[in-house]
Amino acid sequence: MPETDAPMLCPIPHGLVAPGAETAPFRRVLAMSELAPGAMRRASFGDLDLLVASTNAGIVVTDDRCPHMAAPLSIGTLDGCVVACVLHGATFDLSTGLTVEFPTTGGLDPGGLYHPPRVSAGGGARPEPPVAKTRARALTRTRHVRYYPARIRDGQLEARTPAD
Ligand code: FES
Repeated sequence: MPETDAPMLCPIPHGLVAPGAETAPFRRVLAMSELAPGAMRRASFGDLDLLVASTNAGIVVTDDRCPHMAAPLSIGTLDGCVVACVLHGATFDLSTGLTVEFPTTGGLDPGGLYHPPRVSAGGGARPEPPVAKTRARALTRTRHVRYYPARIRDGQLEARTPAD
């Protein structure tokens, strides 16, 4: 069966393949008929939770864990290529793996640069959290999105995933 996936899959951004996925075997993730254009789905294998997103740049398979504090991105919203996390409002471009908008909590970016907390629109002054909590937020690093190489065979989406 010839490969049919090239135009349907979004290329993985350079250097952002998930650890152990580059040489892992392919496994079936879901049937393509289960993924509508613009939709997101979660697929779990043991303790590995994958996000499958049908972006306007193609399908991507990533961890279903926000690069900030691991909330499931699959219950967020997808706008084109940009997924929004429900927990602290960060947004990530799934075509590049980069943060579009930093979490409301602030913290470190992948390069270690500190970003202050965002002030919510119309929000008044909030009580300062305990020092340890403030410090934990400041030291939490929002990383890049990590990807699993994928292909489409006989109407099935498959991805390289480390064994569970
Ligand atoms: S866990 Fe997603 S923005 Fe914080």
